Amino acid sequence: MTPDAETGHPHAPAAATVRAVHDELDERAARLDAEHAQTDLRHRFLLPEGLVHLDGNSLGALPAAVPPVLRRVVQEEWGRDLIDSWNTAGWWDAPGRVGDAIGAVVGAGPGQVVAGDTTTLRLYQALRAAAVLRPEARVLVTDPGSFPTDLYVAHGVAAEVGWRVELADPDAMPVLLADLTARGERVAALAFSHVDYWTGRAWDLPGLVRAAHDAGALAVADLCHSAGAMPVGLDEHDVDLAVGCGYKYLNGGPGAPAYLYVARRHQPQFVNPVPGWHGHADPFAMAGEYAPADGVDRARTGTPPLLSLLALEAALTALDGVDADAVRERSLSLTAFLRECLESLVPGVDVVTPRDDERRGSQLSLRHEHAYGVVRALAERRVVGDFRAPDIVRLGVAAPYLTHADMVTAARAYAAVLADEEHLDPRHERRSTVT
Ligand SMILES: Cc1ncc(COP(=O)(O)O)c(C=O)c1O
Repeated sequence: MTPDAETGHPHAPAAATVRAVHDELDERAARLDAEHAQTDLRHRFLLPEGLVHLDGNSLGALPAAVPPVLRRVVQEEWGRDLIDSWNTAGWWDAPGRVGDAIGAVVGAGPGQVVAGDTTTLRLYQALRAAAVLRPEARVLVTDPGSFPTDLYVAHGVAAEVGWRVELADPDAMPVLLADLTARGERVAALAFSHVDYWTGRAWDLPGLVRAAHDAGALAVADLCHSAGAMPVGLDEHDVDLAVGCGYKYLNGGPGAPAYLYVARRHQPQFVNPVPGWHGHADPFAMAGEYAPADGVDRARTGTPPLLSLLALEAALTALDGVDADAVRERSLSLTAFLRECLESLVPGVDVVTPRDDERRGSQLSLRHEHAYGVVRALAERRVVGDFRAPDIVRLGVAAPYLTHADMVTAARAYAAVLADEEHLDPRHERRSTVT
């Protein structure tokens, strides 16, 4: 709203001005969508008509490749071939095969990623392994703003192995590491999320890895909010260990398997704290004593959830032929345009996510006192984002299946919700904790 010249009070802009703003945004969206037509992969996904899914940072959309693969797996591999499928359909090798496919997305060469289990378990394996790789060290450095599971695991492992946990915002980690080193303290690992789940802020992964290595520590990265949305470059940047989930920008489906990256140079010394028979060097010998398999296979645990794993494998084909740089370019254009639409249409909108490209992941986080109500009211208008306590509306932008036109639709819905005070409707009071 513009301030009234005489009273200084805000007043509504004239209808013609409002229409001109909307028309201009529609025209810009059409132009930008034409410019980015090459990376529009909407046709590879099955999304309900008219829905703007801004929650791919929580649950990615369903890739069209998944249902036929799951039908085949269920009817033929499971229903007809039964136990033979462990060999004939490649079930046994699926964790490594799917791991390599994820590796291609996050810049890891073959044989360094294994898929399966949850991010939580993978974090546990990574941090316990770090304790073995850095036996003299007594400190773990991590971000207090990390996703809760990351903090729980960090404190849990620290209690088990006798580490002290030092908390620092990733921007402050290099200075903290230098201080600790100057005081003669040995740091085992620096654990951080590549992109912050709450603010959508992207941290400087190469810089953090360098700072960790300068301090003799390992870099352990959580890629949940970057894998599939932007280049990661695990090998290129010398990351030591990394984890991530399959259900966000990798579109693997609800509860999709997670993954663990163990850089090749660490694999001979990698000790699996959850040694299971699928990670044994000779699983069918049924030996009573554990002997780890070679390579990243030693990070396997027990029988993997094959239906989910094979769904994730099919889902990853939705990203075939599009490199991470192209996805990133589209994502940056979408999030910058979404911000512009919101700033044009929603007076006083409070975007928490950094404006500059280097520090922005693939989401916009908006602060609002009634964030929960806003999210629920938006959903009624077929714009699906999510709520993060206490006051954040998260709008995730999974670039492959979203368009600039969707960004205008979302901003328009946001403006309408606030203008009509739909977010204050008693139906949208926060009762449930599951959103
Ligand atoms: C950054 C981050 N780490 C970990 C997790 C959770 O991991 P899990 O797959 O074990 O539920 C999430 C879930 O959203 C997350 O955003």
